[in-house]
Amino acid sequence: MPISPLVKEDIATIAAAIAAQAPKLSGKTVLISGGAGFLGKYFLGVFSYLNEHVLDEPVKVISVDNFITGDRDPNFDFSDKEFILDVWGDVTYPIPVREDIDYIIHAAGLASPVYYMKYPLETIESAVTGAKNLLELARKNENLQGFLFFSSSEIYGDPDPSAVPTPETYHGHVSSIGPRACYDESKRLTETICTIYQQQYNTPVTMVRPFNVFGPGMKHNDRRVVPMFTYQALNGEPITVHGDGHQTRTFCYITDAMTGFLKVLLAGKPGEAYNVGNEDNEISMRDLAQIFVEAAGGDASYKLIDYPDNYPAGEPQRRCPDGAKARKELGFQATVDFRAGLTRFMDWARSQETYVAKQQETAKK
Ligand SMILES: NC(=O)c1ccc[n+]([C@@H]2O[C@H](COP(=O)([O-])OP(=O)(O)OC[C@H]3O[C@@H](n4cnc5c(N)ncnc54)[C@H](O)[C@@H]3O)[C@@H](O)[C@H]2O)c1
Repeated sequence: MPISPLVKEDIATIAAAIAAQAPKLSGKTVLISGGAGFLGKYFLGVFSYLNEHVLDEPVKVISVDNFITGDRDPNFDFSDKEFILDVWGDVTYPIPVREDIDYIIHAAGLASPVYYMKYPLETIESAVTGAKNLLELARKNENLQGFLFFSSSEIYGDPDPSAVPTPETYHGHVSSIGPRACYDESKRLTETICTIYQQQYNTPVTMVRPFNVFGPGMKHNDRRVVPMFTYQALNGEPITVHGDGHQTRTFCYITDAMTGFLKVLLAGKPGEAYNVGNEDNEISMRDLAQIFVEAAGGDASYKLIDYPDNYPAGEPQRRCPDGAKARKELGFQATVDFRAGLTRFMDWARSQETYVAKQQETAKK
């Protein structure tokens, strides 16, 4: 299936939003880890678009992934003659690249709670050891212009209500032995390692702390909340809300999130971490489920369920970014209203066989 027009439109939107910074990529080489993941695919899409429409000299891209959760998605095939795609590589081992590298993006990881609970040690190693290997590669590349580490808003743990919206200066409230520790603590330690490389070796490291990004390309079985509710809504299943449903999140549509990430990579201050999220739409999981019920129409409903055994308990009660730093230093602010983003996401999902196969099966019977 060719790339969806909706995704193409979103990629053009991202490219337009970073027009001022994009020329920095002209003639450069980028290495991205986790290139087969949800966000990795968008980086490839944006770089391919820039090559076709914007840059004087193309950006070369080396995409490395061990495919533990990512895949070669034919619906997101951004093949470009300047790209070395689908390189099988595990960042927990040194990556043998001969090319001179100008930018490194470390996006490899186990992002979805169900998967990091299933692979806790791999989660720690992809962050910590992966970053260490890529930072060593960065040191060997004297002309390196930027190194972007994908941290997470989860480094804040379960914040004190007085620290919501949460600024980058909040130190976090995190358990070192809880069911989520493999993810939260490994992201925290990796931020520490990144900071030390910046201080000791002057490596131009920046860090992003994304707050629940969503958009086309998320797999139906990814188990993050938006694709999961979408799958349930499109297949006439009850929307299942974990716990009492009062826990809140904010959701940042992919065009906003990618704009923020690229601005941090290309214009962020070395050694600094930036929240990237949408401050304006903190919503409880009950209310979110209700939106899906309405979107599904008919007899749809949601139900509260206990946390399943394969889902890490102890989730944060509230999550909402303070976006002041990114706004002031990078001129970044999320602009896509949640419902508008969700409409795009659901339109895309309806066109995907994996999201609607079950519904079609039931209709045939
Ligand atoms: N998407 C979000 O909302 C969000 C929020 C906070 C943080 N993040 C972080 O951003 C990064 C990218 O997120 P995503 O949504 O694209 O995740 P994703 O799970 O869709 O993609 C991650 C990719 O990394 C690959 N990978 C895992 N371990 C690897 C290893 N050792 N070597 C090479 N590749 C490996 C996986 O196969 C996968 O393709 C992750 O590090 C995640 O923790 C994402």
